[in-house]
Amino acid sequence: MTATTDRIVLITGANRGIGRALLEEALRRGARRVYAGTREPLGHPDERVTPLLLDVTDAAQIERAARSVPSLDVLVNNAGTALYDDLGDRAAIEDQLAVNLFGAHGVTQAFLPQLTRSRGAVVNNLSMTAFAPLPMVPAYSISKAAAFSLTQSQRALLAGRGIRVHAVFTGPTDTDMSRAFDAPKASPESVARAVFDGVENEEEDIFPDPTSQTMAAGWRSGPAKALEREYAAVGPPHARPAGFGGGGGRGPAHRRPPVPPGTGTRPASRRAAPVPVRARPRSGRSRPAASTYDIRPRRHPRTTRRLEMTTPRPGSILLGTTRPAELRDWYRRALAPDHRGEGPIDLGGFLLVIEERDDVAPGNGEPGRMILNFHVDDFDAVEAQLRAAGVDWLVPVADRPSGRFGTFADPDGNTLQIIRFTRSA
Ligand SMILES: NC(=O)c1ccc[n+]([C@@H]2O[C@H](COP(=O)([O-])OP(=O)(O)OC[C@H]3O[C@@H](n4cnc5c(N)ncnc54)[C@H](OP(=O)(O)O)[C@@H]3O)[C@@H](O)[C@H]2O)c1
Repeated sequence: MTATTDRIVLITGANRGIGRALLEEALRRGARRVYAGTREPLGHPDERVTPLLLDVTDAAQIERAARSVPSLDVLVNNAGTALYDDLGDRAAIEDQLAVNLFGAHGVTQAFLPQLTRSRGAVVNNLSMTAFAPLPMVPAYSISKAAAFSLTQSQRALLAGRGIRVHAVFTGPTDTDMSRAFDAPKASPESVARAVFDGVENEEEDIFPDPTSQTMAAGWRSGPAKALEREYAAVGPPHARPAGFGGGGGRGPAHRRPPVPPGTGTRPASRRAAPVPVRARPRSGRSRPAASTYDIRPRRHPRTTRRLEMTTPRPGSILLGTTRPAELRDWYRRALAPDHRGEGPIDLGGFLLVIEERDDVAPGNGEPGRMILNFHVDDFDAVEAQLRAAGVDWLVPVADRPSGRFGTFADPDGNTLQIIRFTRSA
């Protein structure tokens, strides 16, 4: 998901300030529809604007809004409130957390189904106070720091659904909110342009004005960002823990129906024919019937006899799909340009079998459950080949202590990684 043209966008707090500028900028960039979330009814001359009554602290309004929006590409959590305080009043902290943290959290949760379907983007308008508190607005700073942490976790957890999550570290901007704050300020229009530029350029952290720009390079190359990436890699970023996104990872709603005994993975009536194996008679023993494909693992030259007898060695993986031709074509372009024909794709001795099935959904609903890792020597060459094939990067290529990683998805949403381990890892 990149350009804003022809996209469906929802902006909270769209009636004034930066939200209003984001609304106009989305229209200027050719958005197909812009849902304008506001607390009071909003009129707009452009027929592509659909007003949406949306107080982000009101669970019923959030739910109603989510029901009335059938599809969504970009959600901008912009609504925010800032109050002067001195930490003496707990209510001031709670009020700002309610809008700036729980508002963004609640709205995102409600729109996850739409964003998952579109493999869309979430944009959280944070603040530079997410990095360091402004003493005149400590409770606001707490709420923005918390919303920043929320954003990082959403980024890790939603990557497996193909949803990108952007943090916007807005600096002083000339709106009602910062009226009393005496500092050079950017115009809301320039901030809005920079936000959409950042989304279109797939910058996960967006610094949309001259003041915040001074933080950009240091943040992106600093140890805290490296740690964010490192932590995101610890648990599969694509896992869906219980309670996140409806259903939850271990809840009953998530379980597949029980498999009748003795039928393997699915009801016997729906089982596809096993991948045929070419006949190769040996010592008079009967072998399976002749066929086109041979998916027996290749013999590894250095595998000892003992290992061969005792250790089951993975030799192939079968990808069930509703669109085998498209998927095979993608794998060919991305990973095996020399492969011809309809048979299994040989990836250096490990076979990839693509099979049409009627018992799988069009997209992988749990892409993080199993990740196909490709260990490569020439990382740059493989990365270039993948980019040329137009792969969808879930986690951009990055160096970690254990090596260089890049995580991407196939058209069905299955997750794959290329990895070049460091020598010591
Ligand atoms: N201006 C800055 O210097 C600056 C700097 C860093 C970050 N930001 C962030 O940028 C975002 C936009 O701020 P802004 O400068 O445009 O401020 P603003 O002019 O005060 O606008 C705030 C917007 O948020 C809406 N809002 C507040 N509480 C809401 C709620 N409970 N539900 C739905 N909408 C609600 C307001 O709606 P109503 O009109 O109904 O009140 C308004 O549309 C905020 O998240 C803010 O923290 C601003």
